[in-house]
Amino acid sequence: MILDIKTYPDKILTKKTRPIREFDANLQKLIDDMAETLYAKHGAGLAANQVGESKQIIVVDGGEGLKVLINPKITRSRGQMIYAEGCLSFPGIELFIKRPTKIAVAYQDQKGEAKNLKTENLLARIICHEIDHLDGKTMLDKLPLLKRLALKRQLKKNTK
Ligand code: CO
Repeated sequence: MILDIKTYPDKILTKKTRPIREFDANLQKLIDDMAETLYAKHGAGLAANQVGESKQIIVVDGGEGLKVLINPKITRSRGQMIYAEGCLSFPGIELFIKRPTKIAVAYQDQKGEAKNLKTENLLARIICHEIDHLDGKTMLDKLPLLKRLALKRQLKKNTK
């Protein structure tokens, strides 16, 4: 099932999400729907709160197939690079955002098994973006203050 995407300034996007404790059929259904939604909307990553579920689940695909990360935490990061980024919750907007070039991330898979992933470049960027969502942060929070305020004002005008 393709899910509706919550767009800025929906309040769920700025609220911290809750960890997953039960790895059951309901979780698998939500993951399947998130993956279907990700591909239907031609996104590179999707966090559960973007589809209205305040839960620590992300689905990502940087071109090498689907990855599902539950309760993900970045354990190490290195380097930095500024690159253009979009977000399904900010349709039509592209921002230049600084992110690490290499990360290590600890997470659980859909069965609850603890895993680690080391990755770099595009996939690292996507995962950092999606983990920010789980912390209630969006691309806007990565911008310098004045840019952020100006863009917020503009986005508010557009949604009126
Ligand atoms: Co996003």
